Amino acid sequence: RRIDWTPMMAEKGGYKHFMHKEIWEQPRAIADTLRGRMLLSEGDVHFDTWNLAAEQVKSFTKVTILACGTSWHSGVAGKHMIESLARLPVEVELASEFRYRDPIVEKSHLVIAISQSGETADTLGAFKEAKRLGAHTLAICNVIGSAMTRESDLHILTNAGPEIGVASTKAFTTQLVTLYLLAVKLGRMRGTLSVEAAQEHLTQLTQVPKMIEDVLKCEPQVKRVAREFMNAQDFLFLGRGPMHPVALEGALKLKEISYIHAEGYAGGEMKHGPIALIDEKMPVVVLAPKHPHVAYEKIIGNIEEVRARGGKVIAVIDEDDAQADSLADHVIRIPAASALLAPVVATIPLQLLAYHVAEMRGNDVDQPRNLAKSVTVE
Ligand code: AGP
Repeated sequence: RRIDWTPMMAEKGGYKHFMHKEIWEQPRAIADTLRGRMLLSEGDVHFDTWNLAAEQVKSFTKVTILACGTSWHSGVAGKHMIESLARLPVEVELASEFRYRDPIVEKSHLVIAISQSGETADTLGAFKEAKRLGAHTLAICNVIGSAMTRESDLHILTNAGPEIGVASTKAFTTQLVTLYLLAVKLGRMRGTLSVEAAQEHLTQLTQVPKMIEDVLKCEPQVKRVAREFMNAQDFLFLGRGPMHPVALEGALKLKEISYIHAEGYAGGEMKHGPIALIDEKMPVVVLAPKHPHVAYEKIIGNIEEVRARGGKVIAVIDEDDAQADSLADHVIRIPAASALLAPVVATIPLQLLAYHVAEMRGNDVDQPRNLAKSVTVE
């Protein structure tokens, strides 16, 4: 009798690649991140490791986020969340750059390292430096007992479960949700969020796992888009406001596993250079959920600019949006979420697009060339 399954395949739970499995695990991973942390009736957030008093939180004058790659993208989205809900200025730094200049770090700064592995050398080095300079340090990591959780004054786990694929998927979306919880927590402690406002934010968070389940249903359509553009040489991803880091993440995901050149841009920057790249061979993924914060009307303008130059537009839009639908070559519909949570939902089709393009090109999706899961060299 032939045995068709290897232990490795069993670990993949019937999926061909870990990355695909991990994309589909996101509703559960996000539910695990939220579990036990939302105190809905009190309008508050509970982290069992939390050790900061209200006075200390009120005394923070600035947040600096340190991270690399995908984790840096979640930091950029986190900036929108923390600034909006806790009214604290946030700077997001590439950890590899932070170390090698003369950074301004003060005792009143909260320095947050974001890392799936908790072992990335650049992030760890920058984090240690910030601690040495006197900042209060908080690590957001997925691996319990990792170097960053040990080095920090406080750590919060993302609870995504093990991520095996080199391309980060569920680690990213659980980082976003963790940052949202943190923004609510800081907002409550600083008095910038009322109980009612916090309850509203937490209620929206409870809906995210179901929204991810719904958006995953777009896979057949994303596959058709992948087939049409799998031989493209370049891709452009555009997003504004909280959708900008999603554009960066969509481009990174595509380039690291499909080896297609891709760039993520803030929509407003198009006219300052990248518009010169647009021709009929250029697919442009435009993130256009309907929110004033993501400058919907302006991003519609970007779609028109691309179309006028013959570029092909793949628009990620809200379910009920007829305007963008009539302008784009392809639309991928996502459930309507608040402006700060839309990045979590809008990331899913971009992960699927990268996955299917890479798979159709016959690439080693889980172990792309030249890359390691954890970059422990500087
Ligand atoms: C993501 O798809 C990449 N493999 C990479 O950018 C990664 O996010 C980066 O190396 C940071 O890793 P970390 O989150 O473990 O620190």
